Amino acid sequence: MNKVITSVRILTTTHNALDGIMLDMSPSIVVTAAVGLLMLLGLLTFRSASSDNNLPGVPQFKGLPILGAMPMYFKHGMPQLLSKLIAIGDDGISYVNIVNNILVSLHGPAMVREVLAYPEQVASREGDPGRMSWSPFYTLRRLIGHSLFNEVGPEISNHRNVFIREFNTTKSNSEKFDSTAKIATAHANAMTGEVPTDEVDIRSSADNFAIALWGETLYANPNYYLGGRVLSLSEVIITLVGNPWPSVCSEAKVRAKVADVIEKTIGNLVEYEQENPSASLKTIRNLSVMTGGGLTGLLSKFAFELANFNLFGGHHSIGSNITWAFVELDKHPRCLAKLMAEISSVDTTDFTNVNSNMPYLDAIFMEINRLYPTVHATVRVINREIKLDSSKKPVILKPGMLIYLSYLHLHTSPEFWDPDAGVFVPERLLGGYQKDQPFMPFGYGPRSCVGYKFAILAAKQYLVTLLQTHQVDVKDHDHEMRVDTLLETTKPVAVKVTHRS
Ligand SMILES: *[C@@H]1O[C@H](CO)[C@@H](O)[C@H](O)[C@H]1NC(C)=O
Ligand SMILES: *[C@@H]1O[C@H](CO)[C@@H](O)[C@H](O)[C@H]1NC(C)=O
Ligand SMILES: *[C@@H]1O[C@H](CO)[C@@H](O)[C@H](O)[C@H]1NC(C)=O
Repeated sequence: MNKVITSVRILTTTHNALDGIMLDMSPSIVVTAAVGLLMLLGLLTFRSASSDNNLPGVPQFKGLPILGAMPMYFKHGMPQLLSKLIAIGDDGISYVNIVNNILVSLHGPAMVREVLAYPEQVASREGDPGRMSWSPFYTLRRLIGHSLFNEVGPEISNHRNVFIREFNTTKSNSEKFDSTAKIATAHANAMTGEVPTDEVDIRSSADNFAIALWGETLYANPNYYLGGRVLSLSEVIITLVGNPWPSVCSEAKVRAKVADVIEKTIGNLVEYEQENPSASLKTIRNLSVMTGGGLTGLLSKFAFELANFNLFGGHHSIGSNITWAFVELDKHPRCLAKLMAEISSVDTTDFTNVNSNMPYLDAIFMEINRLYPTVHATVRVINREIKLDSSKKPVILKPGMLIYLSYLHLHTSPEFWDPDAGVFVPERLLGGYQKDQPFMPFGYGPRSCVGYKFAILAAKQYLVTLLQTHQVDVKDHDHEMRVDTLLETTKPVAVKVTHRS
Protein backbone atom coordinates (compact mmCIF):
# COMPACT_ATOMS: atom_id res chain seq x y z
CA MET A 1 0.00 0.00 0.00
CA ASN A 2 2.61 2.51 1.10
CA LYS A 3 4.76 1.71 -1.85
CA VAL A 4 1.92 2.44 -4.23
CA ILE A 5 1.10 5.74 -2.57
CA THR A 6 4.70 6.86 -2.81
CA SER A 7 4.86 5.97 -6.45
CA VAL A 8 1.71 7.96 -7.13
CA ARG A 9 3.42 11.01 -5.69
CA ILE A 10 6.53 10.49 -7.72
CA LEU A 11 4.43 9.97 -10.76
CA THR A 12 2.49 13.15 -10.19
CA THR A 13 5.71 15.08 -9.90
CA THR A 14 6.98 13.46 -13.05
CA HIS A 15 3.78 14.45 -14.78
CA ASN A 16 3.93 18.12 -13.89
CA ALA A 17 7.51 18.33 -14.92
CA LEU A 18 7.37 15.91 -17.77
CA ASP A 19 7.91 18.41 -20.53
CA GLY A 20 10.80 20.03 -18.72
CA ILE A 21 12.42 16.72 -17.91
CA MET A 22 12.14 15.67 -21.50
CA LEU A 23 14.45 18.47 -22.49
CA ASP A 24 17.26 17.98 -20.03
CA MET A 25 17.27 14.34 -19.07
CA SER A 26 18.27 11.31 -20.99
CA PRO A 27 15.08 9.97 -22.55
CA SER A 28 15.81 6.41 -21.49
CA ILE A 29 15.69 7.38 -17.80
CA VAL A 30 12.35 9.07 -18.27
CA VAL A 31 10.99 6.13 -20.18
CA THR A 32 12.16 3.58 -17.65
CA ALA A 33 10.91 5.59 -14.69
CA ALA A 34 7.55 6.49 -16.12
CA VAL A 35 6.81 3.11 -17.64
CA GLY A 36 8.02 1.28 -14.55
CA LEU A 37 5.78 3.32 -12.31
CA LEU A 38 2.82 2.88 -14.56
CA MET A 39 3.32 -0.86 -14.57
CA LEU A 40 3.51 -0.81 -10.81
CA LEU A 41 0.17 0.90 -10.75
CA GLY A 42 -1.23 -1.69 -13.08
CA LEU A 43 -1.92 1.02 -15.61
CA LEU A 44 -0.08 -0.67 -18.38
CA THR A 45 0.51 -4.27 -19.04
CA PHE A 46 2.62 -5.63 -21.77
CA ARG A 47 0.28 -8.14 -23.19
CA SER A 48 -1.03 -6.14 -26.08
CA ALA A 49 0.50 -6.39 -29.50
CA SER A 50 3.72 -4.56 -30.25
CA SER A 51 3.20 -1.04 -31.34
CA ASP A 52 4.22 -0.79 -34.96
CA ASN A 53 1.84 -0.88 -37.81
CA ASN A 54 -1.08 -2.04 -35.78
CA LEU A 55 -3.66 -0.74 -38.16
CA PRO A 56 -2.10 -0.73 -41.62
CA GLY A 57 -3.39 2.04 -43.86
CA VAL A 58 -5.09 3.89 -41.01
CA PRO A 59 -3.77 7.40 -40.18
CA GLN A 60 -1.63 7.32 -37.06
CA PHE A 61 -1.00 10.23 -34.74
CA LYS A 62 2.72 10.18 -34.08
CA GLY A 63 3.83 10.71 -30.52
CA LEU A 64 7.26 10.25 -28.96
CA PRO A 65 9.26 7.10 -29.51
CA ILE A 66 8.06 4.30 -27.21
CA LEU A 67 5.94 6.62 -25.02
CA GLY A 68 3.71 7.50 -27.93
CA ALA A 69 1.08 10.03 -26.90
CA MET A 70 1.46 9.31 -23.18
CA PRO A 71 2.90 12.71 -22.25
CA MET A 72 0.12 14.46 -24.11
CA TYR A 73 -2.52 12.24 -22.57
CA PHE A 74 -1.22 12.91 -19.08
CA LYS A 75 -0.74 16.60 -19.64
CA HIS A 76 -3.92 17.48 -21.48
CA GLY A 77 -6.20 14.50 -20.88
CA MET A 78 -8.20 12.37 -23.22
CA PRO A 79 -10.47 14.99 -24.83
CA GLN A 80 -7.50 16.89 -26.31
CA LEU A 81 -5.93 13.75 -27.62
CA LEU A 82 -9.23 12.73 -29.08
CA SER A 83 -9.67 15.97 -30.98
CA LYS A 84 -6.20 15.52 -32.52
CA LEU A 85 -7.17 12.04 -33.62
CA ILE A 86 -10.43 13.20 -35.16
CA ALA A 87 -8.58 15.92 -37.04
CA ILE A 88 -6.29 13.44 -38.82
CA GLY A 89 -8.81 10.65 -39.42
CA ASP A 90 -10.47 11.72 -42.64
CA ASP A 91 -12.22 8.41 -43.23
CA GLY A 92 -13.64 8.38 -39.72
CA ILE A 93 -10.80 6.38 -38.19
CA SER A 94 -7.33 7.08 -36.80
CA TYR A 95 -5.16 5.79 -33.98
CA VAL A 96 -2.29 6.49 -31.64
CA ASN A 97 -0.01 4.44 -29.41
CA ILE A 98 0.26 5.10 -25.71
CA VAL A 99 3.37 3.13 -24.80
CA ASN A 100 2.21 -0.10 -26.39
CA ASN A 101 -1.49 0.34 -25.88
CA ILE A 102 -3.49 1.34 -28.88
CA LEU A 103 -6.14 3.99 -28.80
CA VAL A 104 -8.42 4.10 -31.84
CA SER A 105 -10.79 6.94 -32.61
CA LEU A 106 -13.83 5.94 -34.60
CA HIS A 107 -15.82 8.96 -35.66
CA GLY A 108 -17.81 7.86 -38.69
CA PRO A 109 -21.49 7.11 -37.93
CA ALA A 110 -21.63 3.60 -39.39
CA MET A 111 -18.47 2.48 -37.60
CA VAL A 112 -19.67 3.96 -34.32
CA ARG A 113 -22.98 2.14 -34.61
CA GLU A 114 -21.19 -1.08 -35.52
CA VAL A 115 -18.93 -1.00 -32.47
CA LEU A 116 -21.72 0.02 -30.07
CA ALA A 117 -23.76 -2.93 -31.30
CA TYR A 118 -21.01 -5.48 -30.57
CA PRO A 119 -21.88 -7.97 -27.86
CA GLU A 120 -19.77 -7.73 -24.71
CA GLN A 121 -17.69 -10.79 -25.70
CA VAL A 122 -16.38 -8.70 -28.59
CA ALA A 123 -16.20 -5.28 -26.92
CA SER A 124 -17.08 -4.02 -23.46
CA ARG A 125 -16.77 -0.84 -21.43
CA GLU A 126 -14.00 -2.01 -19.16
CA GLY A 127 -12.36 -4.76 -21.10
CA ASP A 128 -10.39 -7.58 -19.62
CA PRO A 129 -8.78 -6.23 -16.43
CA GLY A 130 -5.69 -8.39 -16.93
CA ARG A 131 -5.02 -6.74 -20.22
CA MET A 132 -6.43 -3.28 -19.87
CA SER A 133 -7.08 -1.17 -16.83
CA TRP A 134 -7.14 2.36 -18.08
CA SER A 135 -10.67 2.64 -19.37
CA PRO A 136 -12.35 5.47 -17.37
CA PHE A 137 -15.11 2.98 -16.58
CA TYR A 138 -12.54 1.13 -14.54
CA THR A 139 -11.96 4.13 -12.31
CA LEU A 140 -15.70 4.47 -11.95
CA ARG A 141 -15.94 0.88 -10.76
CA ARG A 142 -13.23 1.47 -8.16
CA LEU A 143 -15.14 4.47 -6.87
CA ILE A 144 -18.75 3.35 -6.80
CA GLY A 145 -18.39 -0.37 -7.18
CA HIS A 146 -19.96 -2.75 -9.57
CA SER A 147 -23.22 -1.55 -11.14
CA LEU A 148 -25.57 -1.98 -14.06
CA PHE A 149 -23.31 0.49 -15.79
CA ASN A 150 -20.39 -1.89 -16.11
CA GLU A 151 -22.16 -5.14 -15.47
CA VAL A 152 -21.63 -7.89 -18.04
CA GLY A 153 -23.02 -11.39 -18.17
CA PRO A 154 -26.35 -13.15 -18.43
CA GLU A 155 -28.14 -11.19 -15.67
CA ILE A 156 -27.74 -7.87 -17.36
CA SER A 157 -30.78 -7.99 -19.64
CA ASN A 158 -32.98 -8.93 -16.69
CA HIS A 159 -31.63 -6.00 -14.67
CA ARG A 160 -31.95 -3.61 -17.57
CA ASN A 161 -35.57 -4.61 -18.06
CA VAL A 162 -36.40 -4.00 -14.42
CA PHE A 163 -34.90 -0.55 -14.73
CA ILE A 164 -36.58 0.19 -18.05
CA ARG A 165 -39.98 -0.78 -16.66
CA GLU A 166 -39.48 1.60 -13.77
CA PHE A 167 -37.95 4.57 -15.61
CA ASN A 168 -38.38 4.33 -19.34
CA THR A 169 -42.06 3.65 -19.96
CA THR A 170 -44.97 6.03 -20.43
CA LYS A 171 -46.85 4.38 -17.57
CA SER A 172 -44.01 4.70 -15.06
CA ASN A 173 -43.49 8.32 -16.06
CA SER A 174 -47.15 9.21 -15.76
CA GLU A 175 -47.11 7.83 -12.22
CA LYS A 176 -44.14 10.02 -11.33
CA PHE A 177 -45.52 13.14 -13.01
CA ASP A 178 -47.32 14.74 -10.05
CA SER A 179 -44.52 14.33 -7.54
CA THR A 180 -42.05 15.66 -10.12
CA ALA A 181 -44.26 18.73 -10.66
CA LYS A 182 -44.44 19.31 -6.93
CA ILE A 183 -40.67 19.15 -6.51
CA ALA A 184 -40.10 21.33 -9.58
CA THR A 185 -42.42 24.00 -8.18
CA ALA A 186 -40.81 23.88 -4.75
CA HIS A 187 -37.33 24.24 -6.25
CA ALA A 188 -38.34 27.00 -8.65
CA ASN A 189 -39.85 28.97 -5.79
CA ALA A 190 -36.87 28.36 -3.55
CA MET A 191 -34.67 30.14 -6.12
CA THR A 192 -36.13 33.52 -5.35
CA GLY A 193 -35.59 32.78 -1.68
CA GLU A 194 -31.85 32.52 -2.33
CA VAL A 195 -29.75 35.64 -1.87
CA PRO A 196 -28.63 37.33 -3.98
CA THR A 197 -31.20 36.33 -6.60
CA ASP A 198 -29.16 37.67 -9.47
CA GLU A 199 -26.37 35.17 -8.93
CA VAL A 200 -28.17 31.84 -9.03
CA ASP A 201 -25.97 29.09 -10.46
CA ILE A 202 -28.54 27.47 -12.70
CA ARG A 203 -26.66 24.21 -13.06
CA SER A 204 -26.40 23.46 -9.37
CA SER A 205 -30.02 24.55 -8.86
CA ALA A 206 -31.15 22.11 -11.54
CA ASP A 207 -28.78 19.39 -10.31
CA ASN A 208 -30.22 19.80 -6.83
CA PHE A 209 -33.73 19.59 -8.20
CA ALA A 210 -32.74 16.30 -9.86
CA ILE A 211 -31.13 15.00 -6.66
CA ALA A 212 -34.29 15.86 -4.72
CA LEU A 213 -36.37 14.13 -7.37
CA TRP A 214 -34.29 10.96 -7.23
CA GLY A 215 -34.34 11.19 -3.44
CA GLU A 216 -38.14 11.31 -3.36
CA THR A 217 -38.62 8.69 -6.08
CA LEU A 218 -36.13 6.18 -4.77
CA TYR A 219 -36.14 6.76 -1.02
CA ALA A 220 -39.07 9.00 0.01
CA ASN A 221 -36.51 11.70 0.76
CA PRO A 222 -37.06 14.99 -1.15
CA ASN A 223 -34.48 16.56 1.16
CA TYR A 224 -31.74 14.32 -0.19
CA TYR A 225 -30.06 17.33 -1.82
CA LEU A 226 -29.80 19.39 1.37
CA GLY A 227 -26.33 20.08 2.70
CA GLY A 228 -24.89 19.66 -0.78
CA ARG A 229 -23.24 16.37 0.07
CA VAL A 230 -24.63 14.41 -2.84
CA LEU A 231 -23.83 17.17 -5.31
CA SER A 232 -20.25 17.62 -4.16
CA LEU A 233 -19.66 13.89 -4.05
CA SER A 234 -20.83 13.55 -7.64
CA GLU A 235 -18.52 16.39 -8.71
CA VAL A 236 -15.55 14.63 -7.15
CA ILE A 237 -16.45 11.34 -8.80
CA ILE A 238 -16.82 12.97 -12.21
CA THR A 239 -13.44 14.66 -11.85
CA LEU A 240 -11.63 11.52 -10.73
CA VAL A 241 -13.12 9.39 -13.50
CA GLY A 242 -11.65 11.66 -16.14
CA ASN A 243 -8.32 12.02 -14.41
CA PRO A 244 -5.52 10.05 -16.04
CA TRP A 245 -3.76 10.07 -12.65
CA PRO A 246 -5.23 7.55 -10.29
CA SER A 247 -5.02 8.78 -6.73
CA VAL A 248 -5.12 6.03 -4.15
CA CYS A 249 -5.83 8.46 -1.29
CA SER A 250 -8.67 10.41 -2.84
CA GLU A 251 -10.25 7.26 -4.21
CA ALA A 252 -10.33 5.71 -0.73
CA LYS A 253 -11.89 8.88 0.71
CA VAL A 254 -14.57 8.92 -1.97
CA ARG A 255 -15.41 5.28 -1.36
CA ALA A 256 -15.81 5.97 2.33
CA LYS A 257 -18.10 8.93 1.66
CA VAL A 258 -20.19 6.96 -0.82
CA ALA A 259 -20.66 4.20 1.74
CA ASP A 260 -21.57 6.71 4.43
CA VAL A 261 -24.19 8.57 2.37
CA ILE A 262 -25.78 5.34 1.19
CA GLU A 263 -25.91 3.85 4.66
CA LYS A 264 -27.72 6.91 6.02
CA THR A 265 -30.06 7.08 3.04
CA ILE A 266 -31.10 3.47 3.29
CA GLY A 267 -31.45 3.91 7.05
CA ASN A 268 -33.91 6.75 6.40
CA LEU A 269 -35.83 4.64 3.92
CA VAL A 270 -36.18 1.81 6.42
CA GLU A 271 -37.42 4.28 9.03
CA TYR A 272 -39.97 5.69 6.57
CA GLU A 273 -41.17 2.18 5.78
CA GLN A 274 -41.64 1.39 9.46
CA GLU A 275 -43.59 4.59 10.01
CA ASN A 276 -45.71 4.14 6.88
CA PRO A 277 -46.36 0.42 6.68
CA SER A 278 -49.26 0.77 4.24
CA ALA A 279 -47.61 3.23 1.82
CA SER A 280 -46.79 1.89 -1.64
CA LEU A 281 -43.21 0.80 -2.11
CA LYS A 282 -40.62 3.42 -3.01
CA THR A 283 -38.85 2.70 -6.27
CA ILE A 284 -35.60 1.40 -4.82
CA ARG A 285 -37.56 -1.03 -2.66
CA ASN A 286 -39.62 -2.13 -5.62
CA LEU A 287 -36.43 -2.66 -7.67
CA SER A 288 -35.01 -4.55 -4.75
CA VAL A 289 -38.07 -6.81 -4.42
CA MET A 290 -38.02 -7.47 -8.17
CA THR A 291 -34.39 -8.52 -7.96
CA GLY A 292 -34.66 -10.89 -5.05
CA GLY A 293 -34.67 -8.57 -1.99
CA GLY A 294 -37.11 -8.63 0.92
CA LEU A 295 -39.99 -6.22 1.64
CA THR A 296 -38.08 -4.63 4.51
CA GLY A 297 -34.50 -4.33 5.73
CA LEU A 298 -31.48 -4.74 3.48
CA LEU A 299 -31.73 -4.09 -0.24
CA SER A 300 -30.93 -6.62 -2.94
CA LYS A 301 -27.46 -6.46 -4.44
CA PHE A 302 -28.83 -4.83 -7.60
CA ALA A 303 -30.79 -2.15 -5.71
CA PHE A 304 -27.78 -1.40 -3.59
CA GLU A 305 -25.61 -1.01 -6.68
CA LEU A 306 -28.15 1.36 -8.17
CA ALA A 307 -28.06 3.43 -4.99
CA ASN A 308 -24.28 3.72 -5.33
CA PHE A 309 -24.52 4.54 -8.98
CA ASN A 310 -27.17 7.19 -8.42
CA LEU A 311 -24.68 9.23 -6.40
CA PHE A 312 -22.88 9.78 -9.65
CA GLY A 313 -25.40 9.37 -12.45
CA GLY A 314 -28.78 10.85 -13.21
CA HIS A 315 -28.69 14.39 -11.88
CA HIS A 316 -25.85 16.16 -13.61
CA SER A 317 -27.37 15.21 -16.96
CA ILE A 318 -30.62 16.96 -15.98
CA GLY A 319 -28.66 19.96 -14.71
CA SER A 320 -26.73 20.21 -17.99
CA ASN A 321 -29.87 19.93 -20.10
CA ILE A 322 -31.34 22.87 -18.22
CA THR A 323 -28.17 24.92 -18.22
CA TRP A 324 -27.59 24.67 -21.96
CA ALA A 325 -31.27 25.29 -22.65
CA PHE A 326 -31.01 28.63 -20.83
CA VAL A 327 -27.73 29.53 -22.51
CA GLU A 328 -29.26 29.01 -25.95
CA LEU A 329 -32.68 30.52 -25.19
CA ASP A 330 -30.85 33.61 -23.97
CA LYS A 331 -29.10 33.88 -27.35
CA HIS A 332 -32.28 33.18 -29.30
CA PRO A 333 -35.20 35.24 -27.93
CA ARG A 334 -37.29 34.20 -30.93
CA CYS A 335 -37.10 30.57 -29.79
CA LEU A 336 -37.91 31.55 -26.21
CA ALA A 337 -40.99 33.44 -27.40
CA LYS A 338 -42.12 30.43 -29.43
CA LEU A 339 -41.64 28.18 -26.43
CA MET A 340 -43.54 30.54 -24.12
CA ALA A 341 -46.41 30.56 -26.61
CA GLU A 342 -46.49 26.77 -26.62
CA ILE A 343 -46.38 26.64 -22.83
CA SER A 344 -49.37 28.93 -22.51
CA SER A 345 -51.33 27.06 -25.18
CA VAL A 346 -51.61 23.78 -23.25
CA ASP A 347 -52.51 22.63 -19.76
CA THR A 348 -49.09 21.76 -18.39
CA THR A 349 -50.50 20.05 -15.32
CA ASP A 350 -51.56 17.23 -17.61
CA PHE A 351 -48.98 14.48 -18.10
CA THR A 352 -49.94 13.67 -21.69
CA ASN A 353 -49.48 17.29 -22.73
CA VAL A 354 -45.99 17.66 -21.32
CA ASN A 355 -45.02 14.17 -22.38
CA SER A 356 -46.20 14.29 -25.97
CA ASN A 357 -48.17 17.40 -26.97
CA MET A 358 -45.43 20.01 -26.83
CA PRO A 359 -43.45 19.49 -30.07
CA TYR A 360 -41.44 22.71 -29.77
CA LEU A 361 -40.34 21.89 -26.24
CA ASP A 362 -39.26 18.45 -27.48
CA ALA A 363 -37.38 20.00 -30.39
CA ILE A 364 -35.56 22.35 -28.02
CA PHE A 365 -34.34 19.49 -25.85
CA MET A 366 -33.35 17.41 -28.84
CA GLU A 367 -31.39 20.31 -30.29
CA ILE A 368 -29.73 20.89 -26.91
CA ASN A 369 -28.82 17.22 -26.74
CA ARG A 370 -27.45 17.32 -30.26
CA LEU A 371 -25.22 20.33 -29.66
CA TYR A 372 -24.14 19.53 -26.10
CA PRO A 373 -24.22 15.80 -25.43
CA THR A 374 -23.24 15.63 -21.74
CA VAL A 375 -21.61 12.29 -22.37
CA HIS A 376 -19.60 13.59 -25.31
CA ALA A 377 -17.79 10.34 -26.03
CA THR A 378 -17.72 6.78 -24.89
CA VAL A 379 -15.19 3.95 -24.99
CA ARG A 380 -15.13 0.28 -25.72
CA VAL A 381 -12.29 -2.14 -25.15
CA ILE A 382 -11.93 -4.89 -27.74
CA ASN A 383 -12.04 -8.35 -26.17
CA ARG A 384 -11.98 -10.50 -29.28
CA GLU A 385 -10.40 -9.90 -32.68
CA ILE A 386 -12.94 -8.59 -35.14
CA LYS A 387 -13.08 -7.16 -38.64
CA LEU A 388 -14.67 -3.73 -38.80
CA ASP A 389 -17.27 -4.25 -41.53
CA SER A 390 -18.26 -0.65 -42.08
CA SER A 391 -14.82 0.87 -42.62
CA LYS A 392 -13.77 1.88 -46.11
CA LYS A 393 -10.45 0.04 -45.94
CA PRO A 394 -10.06 -3.35 -44.27
CA VAL A 395 -9.48 -2.89 -40.54
CA ILE A 396 -8.96 -5.61 -37.94
CA LEU A 397 -9.57 -4.53 -34.34
CA LYS A 398 -7.46 -6.54 -31.91
CA PRO A 399 -7.97 -7.47 -28.26
CA GLY A 400 -6.87 -4.75 -25.85
CA MET A 401 -7.45 -1.86 -28.24
CA LEU A 402 -9.29 1.04 -26.61
CA ILE A 403 -11.87 2.47 -28.99
CA TYR A 404 -13.03 6.04 -28.50
CA LEU A 405 -16.36 7.07 -30.01
CA SER A 406 -17.11 10.77 -30.12
CA TYR A 407 -20.79 11.66 -29.97
CA LEU A 408 -19.92 15.33 -30.00
CA HIS A 409 -18.27 15.00 -33.39
CA LEU A 410 -21.17 13.01 -34.85
CA HIS A 411 -23.64 15.57 -33.55
CA THR A 412 -21.94 18.72 -34.70
CA SER A 413 -19.97 17.96 -37.85
CA PRO A 414 -21.45 19.65 -40.93
CA GLU A 415 -20.48 16.45 -42.74
CA PHE A 416 -23.56 14.76 -41.24
CA TRP A 417 -25.83 17.76 -40.71
CA ASP A 418 -26.43 21.07 -42.46
CA PRO A 419 -23.67 23.63 -42.91
CA ASP A 420 -25.08 25.45 -39.85
CA ALA A 421 -24.59 22.33 -37.71
CA GLY A 422 -22.97 24.34 -34.93
CA VAL A 423 -25.93 26.67 -34.48
CA PHE A 424 -28.97 26.18 -32.22
CA VAL A 425 -31.96 25.74 -34.53
CA PRO A 426 -34.66 23.69 -32.76
CA GLU A 427 -36.78 23.72 -35.93
CA ARG A 428 -34.38 21.28 -37.58
CA LEU A 429 -35.48 18.59 -35.13
CA LEU A 430 -39.19 19.38 -35.07
CA GLY A 431 -40.83 16.03 -35.62
CA GLY A 432 -37.61 14.10 -35.00
CA TYR A 433 -34.38 13.40 -36.83
CA GLN A 434 -33.71 11.62 -40.10
CA LYS A 435 -32.60 8.00 -40.01
CA ASP A 436 -29.24 8.86 -41.55
CA GLN A 437 -28.49 11.62 -39.05
CA PRO A 438 -26.17 10.36 -36.30
CA PHE A 439 -28.11 11.44 -33.22
CA MET A 440 -27.10 9.39 -30.15
CA PRO A 441 -27.26 11.49 -26.99
CA PHE A 442 -28.38 8.43 -25.05
CA GLY A 443 -25.89 6.09 -26.61
CA TYR A 444 -26.82 3.33 -29.00
CA GLY A 445 -27.17 -0.42 -29.00
CA PRO A 446 -27.41 -2.85 -26.10
CA ARG A 447 -25.92 -0.38 -23.57
CA SER A 448 -28.05 2.66 -24.40
CA CYS A 449 -29.31 4.77 -21.50
CA VAL A 450 -32.10 3.13 -19.48
CA GLY A 451 -33.31 6.22 -17.65
CA TYR A 452 -33.61 8.62 -20.51
CA LYS A 453 -37.38 9.06 -20.61
CA PHE A 454 -37.58 9.86 -16.90
CA ALA A 455 -34.66 12.29 -17.09
CA ILE A 456 -36.02 14.12 -20.12
CA LEU A 457 -39.50 14.40 -18.69
CA ALA A 458 -38.06 15.74 -15.44
CA ALA A 459 -35.93 18.28 -17.34
CA LYS A 460 -38.96 19.38 -19.35
CA GLN A 461 -41.11 19.77 -16.24
CA TYR A 462 -38.45 21.79 -14.48
CA LEU A 463 -37.89 24.12 -17.44
CA VAL A 464 -41.62 24.64 -18.00
CA THR A 465 -42.32 25.27 -14.30
CA LEU A 466 -39.44 27.70 -13.99
CA LEU A 467 -40.46 29.66 -17.10
CA GLN A 468 -44.09 29.81 -16.02
CA THR A 469 -43.32 31.18 -12.60
CA HIS A 470 -40.13 33.18 -13.12
CA GLN A 471 -38.38 35.53 -15.45
CA VAL A 472 -34.90 34.05 -15.92
CA ASP A 473 -32.11 36.23 -17.29
CA VAL A 474 -28.72 34.75 -18.08
CA LYS A 475 -26.08 37.21 -16.88
CA ASP A 476 -23.17 36.67 -19.26
CA HIS A 477 -23.55 35.93 -22.92
CA ASP A 478 -20.20 34.34 -23.63
CA HIS A 479 -20.71 30.79 -22.36
CA GLU A 480 -18.90 28.09 -24.27
CA MET A 481 -18.38 24.40 -23.87
CA ARG A 482 -15.47 22.79 -22.12
CA VAL A 483 -14.81 19.19 -23.01
CA ASP A 484 -13.89 17.44 -19.80
CA THR A 485 -14.90 14.04 -18.43
CA LEU A 486 -18.35 15.30 -19.28
CA LEU A 487 -19.27 18.29 -21.37
CA GLU A 488 -19.28 21.38 -19.16
CA THR A 489 -19.59 25.13 -19.52
CA THR A 490 -16.35 27.13 -19.39
CA LYS A 491 -17.65 28.89 -16.28
CA PRO A 492 -20.74 28.60 -14.09
CA VAL A 493 -23.89 29.98 -15.72
CA ALA A 494 -25.25 32.63 -13.38
CA VAL A 495 -28.86 33.70 -13.88
CA LYS A 496 -31.05 36.38 -12.40
CA VAL A 497 -34.46 35.08 -11.37
CA THR A 498 -37.49 37.24 -10.73
CA HIS A 499 -40.88 35.93 -9.68
CA ARG A 500 -43.51 36.68 -12.30
CA SER A 501 -46.35 38.49 -10.63
C1 LIG B 1 -43.32 -2.59 -8.59
O1 LIG B 1 -43.73 -1.72 -9.61
C2 LIG B 1 -44.46 -2.33 -10.65
C3 LIG B 1 -44.78 -1.27 -11.68
O2 LIG B 1 -43.68 -0.56 -12.02
C4 LIG B 1 -45.73 -2.92 -10.11
O3 LIG B 1 -46.42 -3.59 -11.14
C5 LIG B 1 -45.39 -3.89 -8.99
O4 LIG B 1 -46.58 -4.34 -8.40
C6 LIG B 1 -44.52 -3.24 -7.95
N1 LIG B 1 -44.12 -4.25 -6.99
C7 LIG B 1 -44.40 -4.17 -5.69
C8 LIG B 1 -43.89 -5.31 -4.86
O5 LIG B 1 -45.02 -3.23 -5.22
C1 LIG C 1 -30.02 15.50 -21.03
O1 LIG C 1 -30.45 14.40 -20.29
C2 LIG C 1 -30.32 13.16 -20.93
C3 LIG C 1 -30.99 12.11 -20.10
O2 LIG C 1 -30.37 11.98 -18.85
C4 LIG C 1 -28.87 12.88 -21.19
O3 LIG C 1 -28.71 11.65 -21.85
C5 LIG C 1 -28.32 13.98 -22.04
O4 LIG C 1 -26.97 13.79 -22.24
C6 LIG C 1 -28.57 15.32 -21.38
N1 LIG C 1 -28.19 16.35 -22.31
C7 LIG C 1 -27.64 17.50 -21.96
C8 LIG C 1 -27.39 18.46 -23.05
O5 LIG C 1 -27.37 17.75 -20.82
C1 LIG D 1 -36.37 4.42 -23.70
O1 LIG D 1 -37.47 5.04 -24.34
C2 LIG D 1 -37.17 5.68 -25.58
C3 LIG D 1 -38.40 6.42 -26.06
O2 LIG D 1 -39.53 5.61 -26.06
C4 LIG D 1 -36.70 4.64 -26.58
O3 LIG D 1 -36.37 5.25 -27.79
C5 LIG D 1 -35.46 3.96 -25.99
O4 LIG D 1 -35.04 2.94 -26.86
C6 LIG D 1 -35.78 3.37 -24.63
N1 LIG D 1 -34.54 2.89 -24.06
C7 LIG D 1 -34.41 1.66 -23.62
C8 LIG D 1 -33.07 1.28 -23.11
O5 LIG D 1 -35.33 0.88 -23.59
